[in-house]
Amino acid sequence: MEENEQPTGGPYFVGKKDELIEAKRSFRTLEDRDILIIHHQGVFYALDSYCYHAGGLLQNGDIEELNGRLCIICPKHKYKITLAEGESLYKANDPRDPQPVPRWYSKGMKQRTHTVTEINGEVFVKLSKSQGWLESDFFQGEKGKLERAKA
Ligand code: FES
Repeated sequence: MEENEQPTGGPYFVGKKDELIEAKRSFRTLEDRDILIIHHQGVFYALDSYCYHAGGLLQNGDIEELNGRLCIICPKHKYKITLAEGESLYKANDPRDPQPVPRWYSKGMKQRTHTVTEINGEVFVKLSKSQGWLESDFFQGEKGKLERAKA
């Protein structure tokens, strides 16, 4: 992006579909934001590259289906984040249950996800600007780089 140019959020061309499928995980910087593009089970996802918890590198995380939802598991402290929504899930017992059984709960949207579209074999990402401030925003940009170094 040129200096003095206003960020629009895109959509930005991020690569050829075939190349992104072969790579499975691709890292891009768009408008000073580091994004992870994932191709998994035939679907593209895009989300902020650094985990909302302490800036862990999600590109190295395993992907698992948990409670019927595809999640990336942050390699740093194993937080589980849904690929499609950026929602953080955790499993716990409710101590009020007479016979506690571990269940899945949500901490809400924590990781910013972005919109991926494909046109004639080319893939584009439109950055999300919605939902106000999300916790993964903290680790983006120049200030985020310093925070990641401290974490
Ligand atoms: Fe991702 Fe802590 S940094 S779980």
